[in-house]
Amino acid sequence: MVLSAEDRALVRALWKKLGSNVGVYTTEALERTFLAFPATKTYFSHLDLSPGSAQVRAHGQKVADALSLAVERLDDLPRALSALSHLHARQLRVDPASFQLLGHCLLVTLARHYPGDFSPALQASLDKFLSHVISALASEHQ
Ligand code: HEM
Repeated sequence: MVLSAEDRALVRALWKKLGSNVGVYTTEALERTFLAFPATKTYFSHLDLSPGSAQVRAHGQKVADALSLAVERLDDLPRALSALSHLHARQLRVDPASFQLLGHCLLVTLARHYPGDFSPALQASLDKFLSHVISALASEHQ
C-alpha cells in the first residue's frame, strides 16, 4: 500500500492543523487503548495509568514526537523509525498486534476532535499513514 501524493497532502495538512496539540491527542489515544484493550496495560505496569496521569501525558508526548517525525519523513519511514522498532521489538518485546490497537484509537480520537475534517478520504489517508508507521515499527519483529 503506497501513500499517494494526495494521501501525503491530507496527512500533512491535518498535522499542521493539530500544531502543538498532537500530544493531547496521542495521550487521549493511549487512554482509550488502555481502557478498550486492557491487555496493553501490561507493558506499562511501571507507570501510573490512572485517568489524567502526568506519566501517561509524558509518554503521549513521546509518541506524538515520533509520529510528527514520521510525518516529516514519509519517504524514509523505516530508517526514521529504526531505533524505535529495535526498542519495541528487542527490549520492550511489544506484541506488534498492539500497534494496530493504538492506531485505531488514534483514528477514533482524531475523528472525535475534527469531525468536520474527517472525510472518508482523510480517514483512508490517515489509515494508510498509520499502517506505514506500524509496519516500520514492527519491522524488527520476526
Ligand atoms: C516507549 C513510540 C506503540 C509500548 C516508546 C517511546 C516512543 C514510542 C517514542 C519512547 C522511547 C524512548 O524513550 O526512547 C511509539 C509509537 C507507537 C507505539 C509511535 C505506535 C504508533 C506502542 C504500543 C505499546 C508500546 C502499542 C504497547 C502496548 C511502549 C513501552 C515503552 C514505549 C512499554 C517504554 C515506556 C517507558 O518505560 O517509559 N514508544 N510506541 N508502544 N512504548 Fe511505544
